[in-house]
Amino acid sequence: MPARFRIEAWVIRDTGMSATRSSAHKRSRGTSLAPEVSLQLLYALGISPSESVIDIGGGASTLVDHLYGAGHRDLAVLDVSAVALGEARARLGDPEEVEWINADVTRWQPARTWDAWHDRAVLHFLTDDRSRGRYSAVLSQALAPGGAFIIGAFSEDGPTRCSGLPVRRHNLEALSAFLGDVEIVEQRRHVHRTPAGVEQPFNWIAGLIGGVKG
Ligand SMILES: C[S@@+](CC[C@H](N)C(=O)[O-])C[C@H]1O[C@@H](n2cnc3c(N)ncnc32)[C@H](O)[C@@H]1O
Repeated sequence: MPARFRIEAWVIRDTGMSATRSSAHKRSRGTSLAPEVSLQLLYALGISPSESVIDIGGGASTLVDHLYGAGHRDLAVLDVSAVALGEARARLGDPEEVEWINADVTRWQPARTWDAWHDRAVLHFLTDDRSRGRYSAVLSQALAPGGAFIIGAFSEDGPTRCSGLPVRRHNLEALSAFLGDVEIVEQRRHVHRTPAGVEQPFNWIAGLIGGVKG
């Protein structure tokens, strides 16, 4: 699907898919509260509350709530959906330490750098090489030297669509190779179970880009 139509699909979804209806939000109200894999991998990479984190496509997620609750005070959430961002912002009480960026990650020009980049279920929507190249370039620009990244995408045996859109599934080898010459600290497979009981196998990578951490 060409990138233009893909983004229009998300904007149209602004009327239909929102954080309060997302599986992430329902999870946050159930017993399995936390986005465990994301938090575990941030911990594995040594990201402390004094470090800055940007969550890509995080409007429909509660990761920012958990990080804010854990004491992080330099957070950003980027999402192409203004509705998803607005709901997360309202839910969190719009703290001034959280920046809300309404943008398509593949067309975004970061104005600063962060210590950690987190993406669960955005890269897999980028099915064409051009968008994937832009994503990789933006990630490099947005991370400080020695910065950390965490990316989770549907695995090779995962669903072929997500939120009604086609996805590019990744095995661990392909996901690890995606960013080129970086240090992969951890790889893992995790089967996410949606509130409806549907299993969604994800592959995850967590690592560090080059350069000396400031
Ligand atoms: C499947 S949801 C995942 C939400 C969250 N990361 C989670 O794990 O629960 C995908 C999210 O990414 C956003 N998104 C999709 N394509 C995007 C893009 N190109 N740039 C920024 N956000 C995007 C959507 O608006 C949506 O909020």
